Amino acid sequence: MGKYFYITTPIYYPSARPHMGHAYSSIVSDVIARFKRLDGYNVEFLTGTDEHGLKIQRAAEEKGIDPKKFCDEISKTFRNLSNTLNLSNTDFIRTTEDRHVKSVQNLWKILEEKNEIYLSKYSGWYSVSDEAFYNEDEIKEDNGVNISVNSGSKVEWVEEESYFFKLSKWEKKLLKFYDENPNFILPNSRRNEVISFVKSGLKDLSISRKSFSWGIKVPNNNDHIIYVWLDALTNYISALNYPDTKNKKYKNFWPADVHMIGKDILRFHAVYWPAFLLAADLPPPKRVYGHGWILSGEEKMSKSKGNILDPLEIVEKYGLDPLRYYLLKEVSFGNDGSISQDKLENCINSDLANNYGNLCQRVISFNEKNCNLLIPEKNKFEKEDLLILNKVGDSGKLLRSHMDRQELNLYTNFIVDCLFDANKYFNDQEPWKKKSDIKRLNTIVYVSLEIIRKISILLNPIIPETSLKVLEIFNLKQNDLKFDSIKYHESLKSNDKIKKIDILFKKIEKND
Ligand code: MSP
Repeated sequence: MGKYFYITTPIYYPSARPHMGHAYSSIVSDVIARFKRLDGYNVEFLTGTDEHGLKIQRAAEEKGIDPKKFCDEISKTFRNLSNTLNLSNTDFIRTTEDRHVKSVQNLWKILEEKNEIYLSKYSGWYSVSDEAFYNEDEIKEDNGVNISVNSGSKVEWVEEESYFFKLSKWEKKLLKFYDENPNFILPNSRRNEVISFVKSGLKDLSISRKSFSWGIKVPNNNDHIIYVWLDALTNYISALNYPDTKNKKYKNFWPADVHMIGKDILRFHAVYWPAFLLAADLPPPKRVYGHGWILSGEEKMSKSKGNILDPLEIVEKYGLDPLRYYLLKEVSFGNDGSISQDKLENCINSDLANNYGNLCQRVISFNEKNCNLLIPEKNKFEKEDLLILNKVGDSGKLLRSHMDRQELNLYTNFIVDCLFDANKYFNDQEPWKKKSDIKRLNTIVYVSLEIIRKISILLNPIIPETSLKVLEIFNLKQNDLKFDSIKYHESLKSNDKIKKIDILFKKIEKND
């Protein structure tokens, strides 16, 4: 039996070009996907675009373009984001694809057969921006406009014939499910939020619309289109060839290991989605992780607020790996985090240039001068050598557990700590003073190179390109890398040639 791991990003609304919030959801998912691959898992990593609904229809109308054409254009910019951000996704799904339409209509039919759906009339508040229905107590008036208390987006009154999903009957079963699966929703603060929402009582959910047409048609009643969230959530199984639940992909990868999402779409993923699945007799995902928002100053970065940091501009200016590293290290994962170019520059200078870059640079140039760019013969390891080698070598269990709980900051901080110790080791051992004890000098260089190898493997999921540049000095390629190999202290072969290395990160001149 192979080891399988399935992780998904939210599928993005192609109503505007990608911004840093989207980049963030995708990068953190990519780090986890890459880690799992290093750890020997067969990984399916899905992303894509969510193309139906009134929000998209209106955005297309504003431009005077047919919605499908409109989506074709913007969806491409999200697809290209995979290249720009070096995402290792294995699939990209669009909800306008046949495979998805088939899958959604099938799920609908099953829910209907199981008597989970009925036809009635909806009257209530709807936010087009959130594509969400809100109760009266979730609405407030702001300057004469009705808005959602939570998201602040405008709501409009809707009254029309609609199909309903019997969500209310799942209230107790969902609570039992959360209870039996304490790690279904992480972080814990979000879990509590969801549980109290469900405990406050679930109403049946309107799952079709009649007053516009941009969506997937309800089977057997083409006057209705399927609610965009029932449509969108189903993407996670459409990509595994649902409704064919006997096929290998579905069998290996469902239930998903992690749906990575932003906290604003928690209710859809942690309440509606498991309820739909349980009602259709399908297993719910194993984990929904609701990360925080990327803030610009104190506010959520969003198109409507006009405070977008464009990921493409940042990548162009500073390079991709610095951005990836910065988001992982400086945003407290699970919470909101405000980002700025200033903080990014500090992070590049201190962690990347001074810590990682410097370690690699000085060990290799010392090797060049004293060991001819060869892996030296090592002597017996001393206590100090073993201390630093073991620090990384023994961390496998801890780091796996950090990744499995999506404790991305703890994972990153551990690496920073090791880098600090590795630099200190090289300083304290003073190999430049050991020219008369060549065996000791060689051993210190050997240990330092081993540490660089190990740490670069740990960094590989976060900064794949740069870490690979370093690992290539040992002739290692991406496919050779194994997380488990961090436990070996003598994997480098004496007398093998190593390559020189260019500056990894340029320090940014700062005026202050
Ligand atoms: N289409 C839905 C998701 C459907 S998933 C079945 C959607 N799309 S979105 O484009 O509006 O947002 C996608 C993701 O980006 C969400 O997880 C959202 O939280 C995230 N972000 C959007 N702005 C964000 C920030 N400023 N910061 C961090 N992430 C935020 O919702």
